[in-house]
Amino acid sequence: MKVTVVGAGNVGATCADVLAYREIANEVVLVDIKEGIAEGKALDIWEKSPITLYDTRTVGVTNDYSKTAGSDVVVITSGLPRKPGMSRDDLIETNAGIVKSVTENVIKHSPDAIIIVVSNPLDVMTYQAHITSQLPRTKLMGMAGILDTARYRSFLAEALNVSPKDIQAVLMGGHGDTMVPLPRYTTVGGIPVTELIEEDKLEAIIQRTKTGGGELVKLMGTSAWYAPGAAAAQMVEAILKDQKRVFPVCVKLEGEYGIDNCYLGVPVVLGKNGVEKIIELDLNEEEKELLETSRKHVAEVMEVLDKMR
Ligand code: NAI
Ligand code: 2OP
Repeated sequence: MKVTVVGAGNVGATCADVLAYREIANEVVLVDIKEGIAEGKALDIWEKSPITLYDTRTVGVTNDYSKTAGSDVVVITSGLPRKPGMSRDDLIETNAGIVKSVTENVIKHSPDAIIIVVSNPLDVMTYQAHITSQLPRTKLMGMAGILDTARYRSFLAEALNVSPKDIQAVLMGGHGDTMVPLPRYTTVGGIPVTELIEEDKLEAIIQRTKTGGGELVKLMGTSAWYAPGAAAAQMVEAILKDQKRVFPVCVKLEGEYGIDNCYLGVPVVLGKNGVEKIIELDLNEEEKELLETSRKHVAEVMEVLDKMR
């Protein structure tokens, strides 16, 4: 199985590394526009193989898409990350152009690939990749929900002093401060989280999750990469191994949740055909309202993109 990761920066290189050391693919091609960076990082990952013991071949190229031909899955991470004081939406102008040109190249050489978009603003960059590729929504998706849910789960694990492995959660909506964590669908070893934590503490964790990306930008001066890179690799694994994992994934809604023509995170089943099923939860009124606020925000940024085209 062959995977291409476009963008050999923090997120792309981390994703390629996870794909390699966990032997999720046989071959990983890393592409960047900056001369030598993808070649160097791919070589560094390959030189690690005798130490951490894996067979995955990693190849780096500078903008040479012929080497990506026949990829089964392509992860797009190319684009600017945000800096302190910026929102994800501030990146739209630069990143839309990058995602457009990258998607054109990807599709030309791997017309059958499943594409996972990571570049921000995530939901709208997934829309941009859709406009460019015209792929069916099953084969074109964005990564955000696994990351946002992981942040939520890790904060809960810390607060409850339990293993993060035992925390299951669902989170919906756009990848931004309007995202919708769902305490009603959060369990700890099968126990509803609301039975284990006080309401105010849970609310504080939800708020921290919503601004979790910004917390890291403030600390590091740029956005996160370990959890985002691993989250994208987890989606690739679910697809290549046909695992039928249930993850929150950004996908085009066509009537689900009463929402049409909007790219939003919802729980899906991920397998060899990509998004094989969209799971529709029976949301209560409060949850529906929160999802609608998130939808409105994403729709506004989609409109900004439409006006730029
Ligand atoms: P980075 O700056 O470390 O890496 C981006 C790379 O893209 C650079 O190496 C750059 O040379 C490359 N690039 C730019 N234009 C290109 C082109 N036309 N073709 C190929 N490569 C190109 O940034 P980082 O931290 O890796 O973040 C990448 C993107 O992912 C950002 O837009 C960031 O906001 C987003 N992100 C999204 C997350 C999510 O949950 N969806 C989480 C974390 C980051
Ligand atoms: C994150 O949530 C910035 O989207 C990026 O870390």
